[in-house]
Amino acid sequence: MQVITASQVEEVLDMQRCIDLMKTALIALAEGEARQIVRPVLPLSGKNLLGMMPAFHGAGKVAGVKVLTVFPDNYQQGIPSHQGQVLVFETENGRLKAIVDAEAITGIRTAAASAAVTQVLARPDASRLAILGAGLQGRQHLRALRLVRQLQQVTVWDIRPEAASAYAEEMEKETGLPVRACATAAEATREADIICTLTPAVEPILCAADVQPGAHINAVGACAPHARELAADLVAAGRLFVDWKEAAVREAGDYLLALKEGAITEEHILGEVGQVLAGKLPGRLNASDITIFESLGQALQDLMAANYVANVLLGGKRNDSL
Ligand SMILES: NC(=O)c1ccc[n+]([C@@H]2O[C@H](COP(=O)([O-])OP(=O)(O)OC[C@H]3O[C@@H](n4cnc5c(N)ncnc54)[C@H](O)[C@@H]3O)[C@@H](O)[C@H]2O)c1
Repeated sequence: MQVITASQVEEVLDMQRCIDLMKTALIALAEGEARQIVRPVLPLSGKNLLGMMPAFHGAGKVAGVKVLTVFPDNYQQGIPSHQGQVLVFETENGRLKAIVDAEAITGIRTAAASAAVTQVLARPDASRLAILGAGLQGRQHLRALRLVRQLQQVTVWDIRPEAASAYAEEMEKETGLPVRACATAAEATREADIICTLTPAVEPILCAADVQPGAHINAVGACAPHARELAADLVAAGRLFVDWKEAAVREAGDYLLALKEGAITEEHILGEVGQVLAGKLPGRLNASDITIFESLGQALQDLMAANYVANVLLGGKRNDSL
């Protein structure tokens, strides 16, 4: 049994490879090839949670569970908000194969999934990216999205202006792209073609008036029924796709709260992104459509990413099959 650290994950799991893995995972989920249960979440003190995310994919020879804590206010102390491990088991004999750092896996696979979906839902000429939330996901999303679109400019906003400024300086240096820190979310998103919401906000940070026609939104931050980043009028204005419907109807606050307020009906979820990735469901119909990917994050994504890392380290080569 291998114990795989965050730095090993970062060394092995390059973003482009992970984008391909996430396409496979999201399609497998939509095609019903994988087995998952909606994650049990144990509330800890305050806003903190312990989540358990199991998945099994027979064809991919992967079974296991991600166990992690989510402490949403940890950014105030410079501590990661997501910490834990992914346990990967052999499907042939049930042996524990690897324990893989969950913070690193979550950081990379979440952004890679957004990039895979952006590739099929954003306009082909989308070039202006807005990042709301200048934390780990803010950084990983820029790294991932520049692999699927020719980005020309990046705007960033965070509830802490100093976090947005530090992000702009750091990511401009890393990517060579112009990155501008904005004073408000609306200033960051007004002219954006792709918007990523990556915050632990529980009240909306974005409404329809802040988004131009034709934009694509990756709504990533709100993963619980009481929490949302998107106002109901924005959800109603968009073509809404989810990663896994079974989870979305229980956990997606952006959707559930808009539904509760009567802004949308249950039919507003058009389908799962895996169906769009497989070419079985239309995504964007017009250049002026607003498309929304409601990302909750699914166990199969973690398991496929962690299993890939374990196979590479075990086999010593990078082109192992899934
Ligand atoms: N959908 C998924 O698969 C998935 C996966 C991982 C993380 N997440 C969620 O994404 C969010 C960001 O994760 P992270 O790892 O980057 O966290 P992080 O702690 O690294 O960064 C969070 C950032 O958000 C800012 N922030 C806090 N409250 C805010 C608010 N109300 N408005 C605007 N900005 C605010 C903080 O200043 C910080 O810079 C979290 O809510 C997390 O639970 C979702």
